Amino acid sequence: MTSPLLSPVTLGALDLKNRFVMAPLTRTRTGEARVPGAMNAEYYRQRAGAGLIVSEATAITPEAVGYQWTPGLWNDEQVAGWRTVTEAVHAEGGRIVAQLWHVGRVSHSSFHADGMPVSSTDTAAEAKSFTAGGYVDTSVPRRLRADEMPRVVADFRRATVNAVAAGFDGVEVHAANGYLLEQFLADGVNDRDDSYGGSVENRVRLTLEVLDAVVAATGSAGTVGIRLSLGNGTAGTTDSDPAAVLAHLGAELDRRGLAYVHYVEPVGESGRDTALTAALRSTWTGPFVLAQGFTPETGAAAVAEGRADAVAFGRAFISNPDLPERHRVGADLTEADPSTFYGEGAQGYTSYPAVTDQERDSTAA
Ligand SMILES: Cc1cc2nc3c(=O)[nH]c(=O)nc-3n(C[C@H](O)[C@H](O)[C@H](O)COP(=O)(O)O)c2cc1C
Repeated sequence: MTSPLLSPVTLGALDLKNRFVMAPLTRTRTGEARVPGAMNAEYYRQRAGAGLIVSEATAITPEAVGYQWTPGLWNDEQVAGWRTVTEAVHAEGGRIVAQLWHVGRVSHSSFHADGMPVSSTDTAAEAKSFTAGGYVDTSVPRRLRADEMPRVVADFRRATVNAVAAGFDGVEVHAANGYLLEQFLADGVNDRDDSYGGSVENRVRLTLEVLDAVVAATGSAGTVGIRLSLGNGTAGTTDSDPAAVLAHLGAELDRRGLAYVHYVEPVGESGRDTALTAALRSTWTGPFVLAQGFTPETGAAAVAEGRADAVAFGRAFISNPDLPERHRVGADLTEADPSTFYGEGAQGYTSYPAVTDQERDSTAA
């Protein structure tokens, strides 16, 4: 029987040829100018067999930056650079959305003209930032004022307009992994007493304002997805009742009819925790993408069981550019080398072969 991961699926307005999603993967290979180039276009082209590629997290504005050599989407050069990437993916019949990123406090003073990242709070994250000086502790942030929120929302809106101009098929709002939007969602971080803090309704406010602006900018909720990871506690973003936040958010997202919700399912020492997924799906009834720790086999089972419509693979796509094809023919998977996840150059980036390349090489040898 054909694997359920290999059947087509529709997420909102996005028609996917299979249910393999390439997870967003920061690779720090777009240089000081944060502009994608030929090597980046080749990397994404190699992975266009995925039903959907979610781009590496892409900063919406200089304020949103927290790492060395990560890409942006705020100027014309970045739009032109990303256009070469989207054209390369489309030429291979692939689909790609831009992951829109604001790191908030997971950043370092060296990236900010005024010396301070921003956040929901003025306490530092328990995380490292990758800077010109290597991995260093993140800096103490400045607490955003309520009257600055329209500007943050406008930055997301402008980046969305740029993503459309760059030829992306849609955007994924990054509300996961301890970054700015999760710093508002999580009550272990958000210590505000204004309309953006306190109750669940207040903590989800910024995320929903961003989504509404992004949907207005693309003209269709059907090309907009969101990534969530509440419950994982990444970079200190703990919450006292993540199920309640996810259920509330799920209902709000459902009303908006987004293309998909993408959830990083917590995996602990005692295994996979499906309870938070269930809370989110008690109110979100649309297309659902699950991530974290899946193999093609466990991902196929998740689809077969109705736990997900599509499954995102991160590390497996780093070292297996043709992951869906390998799954189809039953080829072995190559192990990814973590020492080249971040850094510079083609080694560990565009150097992993597809099975067809390997067969050709072994025949030639
Ligand atoms: C090198 C690397 C870079 C990552 N960059 C991002 C990112 O830019 N945005 C994001 O949402 N998650 C990012 N993640 C998390 C992955 O998308 C994914 O959730 C994680 O790797 C778990 O999935 P896996 O077990 O299939 O690898 C990154 C993970 C790795 C290993």
